Amino acid sequence: MSQLPKRAHRLDRLPPYEFAVIGQRIQAMTAEGKDVIRLDIGSPDMPPPAAVIEALQMSASDPKRHSYGSYRGDPAFRRAVANYYARRFGVTLDPEKEVLPLIGSKEGLVNLSIAYLDRGDAALVPDISYPAYHMGALLAGADVIEVPLDPARGYLPDLNAIKPPDLARAKLLWINYPNNPTGSIADLTFYEKAIAFCKTHNLLLASDNPYCEIVFDGYQAPSALQVAGAKDCTVEFISMSKTFNMAGWRLGACVGNRDVIENLLTVKSNIDSGHFRPIFDAGVVAFETTPDTWLEQRNQRYQRRRDRILEVLPEIGLEASRSPASLYVWARVKGGDSQHYCQHALNEALVALTPGEVYGPGGRGYVRISLSVGEDRLEQALARLHEWYRVKV
Ligand SMILES: Cc1ncc(COP(=O)(O)O)c(C=O)c1O
Repeated sequence: MSQLPKRAHRLDRLPPYEFAVIGQRIQAMTAEGKDVIRLDIGSPDMPPPAAVIEALQMSASDPKRHSYGSYRGDPAFRRAVANYYARRFGVTLDPEKEVLPLIGSKEGLVNLSIAYLDRGDAALVPDISYPAYHMGALLAGADVIEVPLDPARGYLPDLNAIKPPDLARAKLLWINYPNNPTGSIADLTFYEKAIAFCKTHNLLLASDNPYCEIVFDGYQAPSALQVAGAKDCTVEFISMSKTFNMAGWRLGACVGNRDVIENLLTVKSNIDSGHFRPIFDAGVVAFETTPDTWLEQRNQRYQRRRDRILEVLPEIGLEASRSPASLYVWARVKGGDSQHYCQHALNEALVALTPGEVYGPGGRGYVRISLSVGEDRLEQALARLHEWYRVKV
């Protein structure tokens, strides 16, 4: 019998993707007839604006919109992204050279690592972060230098604590505010410091900003590109997934430094052939026609869910502070072990939560609770957790 060749060594460096592992466990439970409520994933439960869906339908009905598009992505979508940055952040972007559409921002995060990191290089990755920064570096054959995020510093990295030998081989610094999973935020002063730091140490700053429109209590999230001279060393990633409830549509963009955009395009044009054109057409409609009131009303619902979760936390052995942004409550397990807490909540209360260690060792002792589940299901989940915890304690 013939044998398959061994898989590439680079795959051996990747730990199993934790969300896929949790997902498989939940699938098995569902197959056994168990009704699991998923507070573990950040996939918006509400629909995109109606005009966006109509635009997709219209465009998909047009026989001329089914061909390959440009590797750079649809020009109208690039212009819509540039207009959004001008309107929302006062940042000027050249839609030809400083905007690159992505097939979901996750793809761009990983491909940026492929474009910039070789074996022996390193990426500075926050310890507590979305796994794609870490995995992208490993896929590229490079190393990860973890930069702790301390709750006492508002989960902002202490850049001056990074050791000189680590800085010498680092090429990329990842930051993400509003932050997944902690819900922490950064102001322009932080971005100014991060950009000055990157310029001093010849680093590329990658600001991952998919939650900039998931904001509460009147808070407005800034863009790193608002800092004067940011474009010299910075790119920013945005995503339609959370902003317009379009997670399954897979549409995002990388914006900023034109050389970086060009290098990312080199990787992408050898890997993918762009997005389905009707998705771009719908994306243009999302940016150009969605009224601010749509975003505000959607955020008010998330805000009410956040407040309801915060109200119940003390009764289920968790504590958290009120975050003005992102799609999550980041809660500390009082005197406990987060892995154990999540396992038991899943097996006994049939409620899925994400253990904090999925985001790095610094997340140990915390759980992430998503706001992206409807009010009735959320109440049911909280009631189950309450009953489970009462019996357990
Ligand atoms: C911090 C962060 N960055 C990027 C992404 C990827 O988003 P998408 O690929 O849907 O644009 C996510 C998704 O949850 C995220 O939390």
